[in-house]
Amino acid sequence: MNKKNIILLLAAVSFTGFSQMSYSAEEVSSIARGGQLYDKWFKVTGAKKPENTHSAWPGSNTRKKGNATHRCKSCHGWDLMGKDGAYAAGSYKTGIKGLKNLMGASNSKVISAMKDSTHGYSGKMSEEDFTDLANFVTKGQIDMDTVIDRKSKMARGDIAQGERYYNTVCAKCHAKTGKEPKDMAPLGKLSNDNPWEIIQKIQNGQPDEKMPAMRAFDLQVSADILAYLQTLPKE
Ligand code: HEC
Ligand code: HEC
Repeated sequence: MNKKNIILLLAAVSFTGFSQMSYSAEEVSSIARGGQLYDKWFKVTGAKKPENTHSAWPGSNTRKKGNATHRCKSCHGWDLMGKDGAYAAGSYKTGIKGLKNLMGASNSKVISAMKDSTHGYSGKMSEEDFTDLANFVTKGQIDMDTVIDRKSKMARGDIAQGERYYNTVCAKCHAKTGKEPKDMAPLGKLSNDNPWEIIQKIQNGQPDEKMPAMRAFDLQVSADILAYLQTLPKE
């Protein structure tokens, strides 16, 4: 790691608790779009849904196959901690490393990894897509433990404040109960099952939907919303 990277890394570490306030408007929107690509790139780009199982998906995991195995989040986790995070166990257990160490790294390092033979994304996404993804990995990582208690999965947020945000920003599409649209599980259930996923969805938006991304606001806003979601009906 060179000197410039060390300085960037220190800057990044000291800002993770405060969302992305230190980045330019262009960078924040690139990071949010990168987060959606990390979630489900083929939905964002409109590419054909992959049908095969990704060649880097380990044979030890037979619980997932097909397009799910092509999403960055499936191998590296919603918390970007891979085998050391929430996917240390369960149906997405792969043993694959996380990307935490790349916060503050150069974009080119992430881009060359995505284009290597393990990943095989070369030609599947545009240079803009790769840049957005790299910005998300090198500049957009959230220190999840500041917003979610890993053991209890409870958000470290203010429920009453979260209710104000939710009712004014989210309820129009998701109803006051969090039970709309009908083709998704209730937000009360999702937020308790996988709070790391929900923080990413709140911060970056939902791929190919008109849902807003809250990344430009202080990270605490997302934590407060998550805390309120966890009080909503689970069914
Ligand atoms: C099917 C599983 C799988 C998917 C999907 C996947 N990766 Fe990886 N990734 C790996 C594996 C395995 C490694 C470790 C390779 C090694 O150790 O040589 C890795 C390593 C990396 C690295 C290098 C990490 C380091 O510490 O140097 C980066 C960056 C990366 N992946 C980014 C991504 C991004 C961004 C996406 C989505 C566009 C993605 N990966 C999707 C399996 C996957
Ligand atoms: C303009 C409408 C709109 C707004 C506003 C909106 N959403 Fe969404 N949201 C959607 C749609 C549409 C989906 C995708 C539903 C589906 O997959 O069936 C979605 C999906 C989600 C998901 C992912 C569900 C899943 O299983 O993938 C979460 C979490 C979520 N929204 C939370 C929120 C929160 C919290 C807010 C407020 C900060 C919000 N949304 C604001 C329209 C909206």
